[in-house]
Amino acid sequence: MRERIEQVQREISGIVITDNTEAESFRIKYLGAKGVLKSLYQDFKTVPNEEKKVIGQHLNELKQQLENLIEAAKLNEQAKQPKSLLDLTRPGRSTSLGSLHPLTLVRNEITSIFSTIGFSVSEGPEIEDDWHNFSALNFPPDHPARDMQDTFFIDSSIDGLSLRTHTSSVQVRVMETQKPPIRTISPGRVYRNEAISARAHCFFHQIEGLYIDKNVSFADLKQTIDFFAKSFFGSSAKIRLRPSYFPFTEPSAEVDVSCSLCQGDGCNVCKYTGWLEILGCGMVDPNVLDACGIDSKEYSGFAFGMGVERIAQLKYRVNDLRLYSENDVRFLTQFHF
Ligand code: PHE
Repeated sequence: MRERIEQVQREISGIVITDNTEAESFRIKYLGAKGVLKSLYQDFKTVPNEEKKVIGQHLNELKQQLENLIEAAKLNEQAKQPKSLLDLTRPGRSTSLGSLHPLTLVRNEITSIFSTIGFSVSEGPEIEDDWHNFSALNFPPDHPARDMQDTFFIDSSIDGLSLRTHTSSVQVRVMETQKPPIRTISPGRVYRNEAISARAHCFFHQIEGLYIDKNVSFADLKQTIDFFAKSFFGSSAKIRLRPSYFPFTEPSAEVDVSCSLCQGDGCNVCKYTGWLEILGCGMVDPNVLDACGIDSKEYSGFAFGMGVERIAQLKYRVNDLRLYSENDVRFLTQFHF
């Protein structure tokens, strides 16, 4: 018996299995149901009891050797397979998040301040007719005030189509379609025919506000602007109103906010005045209310309008307007929520 075991061991010691087919026939020959090992185990039953321990160990050893050979062949075969180019264990590539445009950040901040005091947001078309951009807003035909706005005309033969010069046009649309009380702000892009420089651009963004109800007074306007200035520029911000002129408001005013850099002492940002101009405003002219179908004897209201770039410049101390539309990511990624 021992002889036969050793003979099998000698036999397999010279065997090299090179592929799966060889491994399979090797397995069938030695480890299969009718294989060599099986018949050795059969014969093992006839081994005298006193030899069983030693021969049994020997037999198990052979079995182990046979299994090892097959296992080694399998590993060999696997190693020969072409390696996958994917390494699924590598950590993924992280995507870097973009940042919001500084004008978007400022617009969002302004709209959220006004939404806390009940202002909704309304939008309208950028191509406007003469009525919504001018006539309804009390600009008589040929009135010199139209020149204030350096309009880009598209086709004056079709309703005086032009690119809107302010978002007051949206407020006309709101007044024509909604009943007071009206409390809304209209953010949006506006266009003016100006040479592009650090201080002017042919398009910019505005947020205009409108409040119409019974008994709305100039004091309400002043309080609203004061609330906005303190919310946006900080609780120590002060405002002052200077008389001004707009065709659609009477009386009209321009609003300055105290310079947050020098606290009003004077610096080069506020040109040593201590004040920074931020918006135009006034009581809605009764002619405008009537033109939009709101009874000016029953209702009154105020309106205001500000340039988003102007407010962003003050907030971020950016002194060249052109940067906002150049899409230079080195500029844009500096602004965060
Ligand atoms: N529409 C004016 C402008 O574009 C701003 C403004 C709005 C002024 C409302 C007064 C009231 O300059």
